[in-house]
Amino acid sequence: MDEPRLKLAIQKSGRLTDPSLDLLARCGLKISRGKDQLMAFGENMPLDVLFVRDDDIPDLVQEDVCDLGLVGLNVLEEKRLELAARGHPVRFQSLRTLDFGRCRLALAVPQEHPYEGAASLRGRRIATTYPYLLEQYLRERQVNAEIVTLSGAVEIAPRLGRADLICDLVSTGSTLQANHLREVETVLESHAVLIRTPLALAPLKGEWVERLMMRIDGVQQVRESKYIMLHAPRAALAEIRRLLPGSESPTIIPLEGSPDKVAVHAVCRENVFWETLERLKQAGASALLVLPVEKMLN
Ligand code: PRP
Ligand code: ZN
Repeated sequence: MDEPRLKLAIQKSGRLTDPSLDLLARCGLKISRGKDQLMAFGENMPLDVLFVRDDDIPDLVQEDVCDLGLVGLNVLEEKRLELAARGHPVRFQSLRTLDFGRCRLALAVPQEHPYEGAASLRGRRIATTYPYLLEQYLRERQVNAEIVTLSGAVEIAPRLGRADLICDLVSTGSTLQANHLREVETVLESHAVLIRTPLALAPLKGEWVERLMMRIDGVQQVRESKYIMLHAPRAALAEIRRLLPGSESPTIIPLEGSPDKVAVHAVCRENVFWETLERLKQAGASALLVLPVEKMLN
């Protein structure tokens, strides 16, 4: 019998596409994908990747069409509220918070318009593709405003006279700038999330999900991690250990022929900046070496 294959949905084209494919590649997945193909076959894992509209990912996973999905928290939270409003249960499950796809759902006003806090929203028309998140934001602040739900091109709504302000995703801010809009409030901070089907997975599929998650954790830890090596006078060891950023227990190795000196090797789970190296040197360290970490498995 053929091994059951996992189906993972990712965004077809957008801010999450490249980082999602990059994450999967770092997890060891090799896929073959023809141009414009909607599905890519995993060559070395029983996992296939489906390329879909990000807004469809929660439903595809919730309805068990796909086992897994990589999607923005913005899309997930909007879907959560929409399901709740329709009296439907939320059944997809979040597995991991991912370290990419950072953006925020924000309110923005035309450049020249004054804005003095939530009171300035009263009675205004706000264009958005996120009506449920916006409705919740306004309700929590007891503001009555009109929500104009659009399916796209929200940023031109004020110029077209369809709205007074907008509630849209911002990452670099260049879309707002190009449309002479000014960001005034954050409605939701977002990042990519890995979600899974509510249904039990066949044993082999379940094992692969576990393996994939371990690899994702490893990939995420490695991004910021550095391996640092240095020589230190024994007398300065306490101070040097204190200066090593985010490292647990360094390896201390005696140095042949120098009884008062040791070598220190440590994995630092934060970036190591020049300032840190300079401080370590002042504390007596020498022969400092910082190396990138390729893979990590705990
Ligand atoms: C969002 C948003 C803006 C743009 C902002 O669309 O609607 O157009 O990104 O990004 P910037 O601040 O870097 O200019 P997105 O690409 O998420 O498309 P979608 O909502 O249709 O999925
Ligand atoms: Zn979308």
